[in-house]
Amino acid sequence: AATGSAPRARVLVARPVFAEVHERLGQHFDLRSHDSDVALQGPALAHALQDCEGVFIAGVEQIDAALLQACPRLRAVCSMAVGYNNIDLQACTARGVLVSNAPDVLTETTADFGFALMMATARRLSESEHFLRRGDWKAWRYDLFAGADVHGSTLGILGMGRIGQAIARRGVLGFGMRLVYHNRSRLPAPTEASLGAQWLERDALMAEADHLVIVVPYGPESHHLVGAAELARMKPTATLTNIARGGVVDDAALARALRQGQLAAAGLDVFEGEPQVHPELLALSNVVLTPHIASASLATRRAMALLAADNLVAALTGGEPPTALNP
Ligand code: DGY
Repeated sequence: AATGSAPRARVLVARPVFAEVHERLGQHFDLRSHDSDVALQGPALAHALQDCEGVFIAGVEQIDAALLQACPRLRAVCSMAVGYNNIDLQACTARGVLVSNAPDVLTETTADFGFALMMATARRLSESEHFLRRGDWKAWRYDLFAGADVHGSTLGILGMGRIGQAIARRGVLGFGMRLVYHNRSRLPAPTEASLGAQWLERDALMAEADHLVIVVPYGPESHHLVGAAELARMKPTATLTNIARGGVVDDAALARALRQGQLAAAGLDVFEGEPQVHPELLALSNVVLTPHIASASLATRRAMALLAADNLVAALTGGEPPTALNP
């Protein structure tokens, strides 16, 4: 709804994004934008947000109690990410600041990537491509980059939310995999039955999976959920794929476990302290490393960004934000 003669609310677009998002938001708001990929944080973010009622962010900018205190006019924080571990939801709610994330629109795209990363890891795609590009390929060999089968193996999923279930469907329906999973709550019995899914305790999951895919939300309760003790339970032939958040896995322990052969390989799209990557991971050949791109199809990133914009428009013009976390 247009605001008529009332002054337009001020909104900060805190990172570079599709021009279409600026156009949509610009129809309603007086826009400011931060055009660098280096995220605004702390006092710099508070400074940029002075006098702003809304902010468009991704999963990077930290929205905490100190920031809220410094930005008393702020009424809406709308993120184009599904994960919202960067936002203190409780503090926002306490101050009456609406928060939204961007679920659903990225589920299938992210599951595609998770599955692709798992397959690339199992079949040693990166390692073999680098070998070829280096000019090291001299002959066909019976065991050249022989990896682990995906079809017919046991798929382990840690965190059975929307994305976990979409990966599970790919594995079970497309690749004939046996499905084991761990989640705080179990799937409804009919869903378990339709996927042939077996719920396991976390330790049992680590031990049973041929290919473990991690898709849990990040928070204090999932910090280093997979550390040295958990990794030690894995099969030496198993792979681990992390498309959740870096902090869910202890990267130093993972690098050690990979070096010691406690598991065969890892596929990682997220890292503790990214965009920095643990140097010991960078030095390993049995890892596939990608720069946090699981949701990055053009269509999906556009849908995520426009959903965040729709939330912002609704939140500041008296509408109903479609994916508010604290409506
Ligand atoms: C998400 O949507 O949470 C992705 O990880 C991008 O930040």
